[in-house]
Amino acid sequence: MAAIPYDDRDGYIWMDGAFVPWRESKVHVLTHALHYASAVFEGERAYGGKIFRSLDHSKRLHRSAGIMGFDIPFSVDQVEQAKKEALVKSGLESAYVRAIAWRGSEMMGVSAQNNTIHLAVAVWHWGDYFADKMKGIRLTHAQWRRPAPDTAPCEAKAAGLYMICTLSKHAAEKAGYQDALMLDYRGQVAEATGANIFFVRDGALHTPTPDCFLNGLTRQTTIALAKARKIEVIERAIFPNELPSFTECFITGSAAELTPVAEIGEHRYKPGAISEALVNDYSALCNGRLELAL
Ligand SMILES: Cc1ncc(COP(=O)(O)O)c(C=O)c1O
Repeated sequence: MAAIPYDDRDGYIWMDGAFVPWRESKVHVLTHALHYASAVFEGERAYGGKIFRSLDHSKRLHRSAGIMGFDIPFSVDQVEQAKKEALVKSGLESAYVRAIAWRGSEMMGVSAQNNTIHLAVAVWHWGDYFADKMKGIRLTHAQWRRPAPDTAPCEAKAAGLYMICTLSKHAAEKAGYQDALMLDYRGQVAEATGANIFFVRDGALHTPTPDCFLNGLTRQTTIALAKARKIEVIERAIFPNELPSFTECFITGSAAELTPVAEIGEHRYKPGAISEALVNDYSALCNGRLELAL
């Protein structure tokens, strides 16, 4: 069954301070963000009517905008309120929440100093990011690398940074995989196209230091969950020649949650006890069945 296009759905989208009917939440074709990727966004999930780590996402949205050189004309509290109202209006308990801020249309060139900044929040039903995820997904190697911190603003969740993610994901899907492992500019293991990555060896978790890609909130939650279980967590530079030495692998992201990985190219992993425990802990935490100070 074909998915319903995102511009042709029922409901309402919060846009610049008011709800507009879903199909009418339009922007002009001469919008700076469309031409120059001057947008920042968040991808969040609500569980049982509550957005997980909502405040952290709203703060990151503001931080990302700051890194991109613009101020969102709604405070963090107002973003929080908009997301809450959009979730209630959607009538959904479990949902995906997308907040996005972007530069408008007053100037159309590389320079956009006077452009109005807009903000929108949309909420929709979204099941698992990967079908049948406990089987473990298959990753290939991406052809594109995460850029150096002095090449792109890698701490921002900025639209422009996703160009190489979409290219890598499309290439992976064309080759029959679900996602791709991206290396960084130094050739170190970085992350998947929309999620961070963890490995298991000898009962410890190994994950790349997030010095040129997003230090995801789910990554941080996973580290806290692992520490609560007294699992050692080692954040360090990881090189591709180490891939055969790991026994388990999983990726983390607000959309992907914790998803075990069964393959990275020629390497095989078995979703095992540690992955399973953390997948279950994450689900319990998001659904209010587990308490953890974050
Ligand atoms: C490129 C990339 N890395 C990592 C993440 C994980 O971030 P988070 O756990 O905050 O959703 C995401 C998801 O938003 C992403 O798109």
